[in-house]
Amino acid sequence: VRVRVDDSLEGIDWDSVVSDLVHDDFHNGRPALSLRRSFERSQHVAIARDEDDGGRVVGMARLLSDGVCNAYLLDVWTHSAYRQRGVASSMVQALTAQVPGQHVGLQTGEAQSFYAALGFRPQPEFMSKIVGAWLDTGSSRP
Ligand SMILES: CC(C)(COP(=O)(O)OP(=O)(O)OC[C@H]1O[C@@H](n2cnc3c(N)ncnc32)[C@H](O)[C@@H]1OP(=O)(O)O)[C@@H](O)C(=O)NCCC(=O)NCCS
Repeated sequence: VRVRVDDSLEGIDWDSVVSDLVHDDFHNGRPALSLRRSFERSQHVAIARDEDDGGRVVGMARLLSDGVCNAYLLDVWTHSAYRQRGVASSMVQALTAQVPGQHVGLQTGEAQSFYAALGFRPQPEFMSKIVGAWLDTGSSRP
């Protein structure tokens, strides 16, 4: 299997991606259009595709950055059938290579060892809140 990682969002079937995320229990409620916007509006994206399966998306990750000093890594996912072969590591390395000199943060529930192997270190204490209700923009705007 040949898996290629690049930064093109061209031709992605976002409905299929959502189905795959649901199947992998990594769907956080975003409809396909919202997921697409999350990626389109991120400064840097990394998309992994199976070249032997018509370019099917088998991994994704994205990075928010101010372009100066701070970045935030999000939505790192490898399709369950493609794990343990370096796909996510390649995606994260491709993203971090775009932000030399910047501090890259992330939050993870259970993939600490994955990020530790890429040089990330715990930095307590992470705090967060949801403004209002999750995915509710307070308008009809998605
Ligand atoms: C975490 C994830 C992105 C890794 O993808 P991957 O393509 O298999 O990663 P790689 O092959 O580059 O690296 C695999 C390494 O990460 C480790 N790893 C993978 N998943 C892990 C997990 N959930 N917890 C701890 N370590 C994990 C593996 O042990 C492996 O290390 P090894 O090579 O020493 O055995 C993938 O398991 C995934 O999509 N999980 C569900 C979504 C998720 O949890 N994403 C991270 C959110 S912060």
